[in-house]
Amino acid sequence: MQRFSADVDLGAIRSNVGRLRDAAGSAEVMAVVKADAYGHGVEPVARTVLAAGATWLGVAFVEEALALRAAGLDVPVLAMTASPRDDVTTAVEAGVDLAVHAVWGLEAAAEAARLANRPARVHLKVDTGLSRGGATAEDWPALVDATVAHVAESTVEVVGIWSHLACADTPAHPSVASQLEWFRSGLDVATRAGLTARVVHLANSAGTLAIPDARFDLVRPGIAVYGLTPGADLGTPASLGLRPAMTLRARIALVKEVDAGRGVSYGHRYTTDRRTRLALVPLGYADGIPRHGSGVGPVQIGGERYTVSGTVCMDQFVVDVGDAEVAAGDEVVLFGPGDDGEPTADEWAEAIGTIGYEIVTRIGGRVPRAYVGGAA
Ligand SMILES: Cc1ncc(COP(=O)(O)O)c(C=O)c1O
Repeated sequence: MQRFSADVDLGAIRSNVGRLRDAAGSAEVMAVVKADAYGHGVEPVARTVLAAGATWLGVAFVEEALALRAAGLDVPVLAMTASPRDDVTTAVEAGVDLAVHAVWGLEAAAEAARLANRPARVHLKVDTGLSRGGATAEDWPALVDATVAHVAESTVEVVGIWSHLACADTPAHPSVASQLEWFRSGLDVATRAGLTARVVHLANSAGTLAIPDARFDLVRPGIAVYGLTPGADLGTPASLGLRPAMTLRARIALVKEVDAGRGVSYGHRYTTDRRTRLALVPLGYADGIPRHGSGVGPVQIGGERYTVSGTVCMDQFVVDVGDAEVAAGDEVVLFGPGDDGEPTADEWAEAIGTIGYEIVTRIGGRVPRAYVGGAA
């Protein structure tokens, strides 16, 4: 490791996919690898999840799907979000599965199919209560009818019918049962119109692990692939049988001794209370270390826990290490699986009032990813 590194344990990812496959039962697994595989690096992660038995990949945007095709991955890939400016023709040519949330998306897919001279593979999304993507219950019958017409013309092929849960991390939340019911009625509307999909899918990581009724034909886990908990109420990674894959480390850039009463970092939000030693860590908010971690973010140096002292800057932060034997060049672990007492990404999330998803996905492009735990 030079200045810093995000080490990604592909063995952990393999084992997490195994755990998710077990939980999924007879359902297939679509590993969600959007946002550069939640910050872990999409290409090695995609190869690893497929080798571990996932049979689909899920991304947010068409461009992300095309990048997977350019990398030579020819498995089914679903682009889950859609916007009117998407290059759907290239996507249809590349055999990318398109999420359809409204009639305009269907028409765009059908037009692209005519240009590409092959049917567009679509997944019709019904909004069952998240009120984000998908057709509302009111709009759903019209979307189904329009799709039936396109299927008859062979411009679209209905690969999936799907939805997304709002509160899967709280399985007893009343919205879960209500969304399941709504989803089933949406499926009935489609069946009555003569439309059947090859796969029906609803569950994210939390749904896969904790809501058996949400599993249908295919599950779409993201965060659990990377070994973080989908929700604190569901358990820790260890209790869920998951292993965090990313370890973020840096080498201390400078250690110096200062007097008591010295203000530290921007705004002097930390003041030394004794003569002490300060260690400078060359990672900052430009690298995804949350500025909200100022004064609260946990780190480990030489096996000991410390807290970020004062403000996280763009490229660095300071840790008051007292009289510990710490020198420039020593390793700082910001987060990892927690095996050796180091903080975890979930702990960082708790410290700053967010979720582990945000901690790992925001690790920036300046931080090289290093892969351990076997070949992708
Ligand atoms: C539509 C959809 N499905 C699945 C996922 C994966 O969710 P999770 O990372 O909670 O498993 C996401 C992620 O946000 C999503 O937006």
